[in-house]
Amino acid sequence: MKMEANIKPNRLFAPQLVGLVSSIDKNGRPNVATLAWITSVSADPPLVSIAVGSTRYTHGCIIHSKEFVLNLPTIDILKEVQLAGSISGRDVDKFKETGLTPVSSIALKTPGVEQCAAHLECKVIDMKEAGDHTLFIGKVVATVCNVEAIRDGVLDISRIKPIMHLGGTLFTTAGEIVDSKNY
Ligand SMILES: Cc1cc2nc3c(=O)[nH]c(=O)nc-3n(C[C@H](O)[C@H](O)[C@H](O)COP(=O)(O)O)c2cc1C
Repeated sequence: MKMEANIKPNRLFAPQLVGLVSSIDKNGRPNVATLAWITSVSADPPLVSIAVGSTRYTHGCIIHSKEFVLNLPTIDILKEVQLAGSISGRDVDKFKETGLTPVSSIALKTPGVEQCAAHLECKVIDMKEAGDHTLFIGKVVATVCNVEAIRDGVLDISRIKPIMHLGGTLFTTAGEIVDSKNY
């Protein structure tokens, strides 16, 4: 039996892969924030979209610098990910506060997050207000990842356990790999 659901719609389209988005403010100071509303939107050219609330410090940083790094955190840094998503770079140095380390990017001034398994360096090519968030469309200009993160052209989830958000303080991670050819 189904009934009209009394739940936030985004919580039914879950779990959502979690990213750490790094950015720089107008003084070049780096910041990092946790985002779950992220997705690829084009393969050629490679484009990603991130939804950033207009109240976030990250929002102003990206509007000013027109770039961001989408970093892939793993379950071993869940505490840091939760913290980066609970405090604002407007008030504190979040790299210092979380213990996460900035690492130089190849193509951007914005650093990536050392502890993450992969980094997509993105230049903003478009943005669109969507309710209380802004969709930033980023063109991926460089891609960096741990060599052991990839097997057979996909993420090796036996080694790299991504973080996925269910809602609130609840998360999960990837389990088995299922090949639709054998299902
Ligand atoms: C698991 C998780 C997912 C989140 N996803 C988003 C998101 O997709 N978009 C967003 O604007 N904020 C999201 N947030 C909230 C921001 O990370 C949070 O407001 C953060 O403090 C913003 O930091 P800033 O002010 O330094 O930019 C999420 C938080 C958590 C814990």
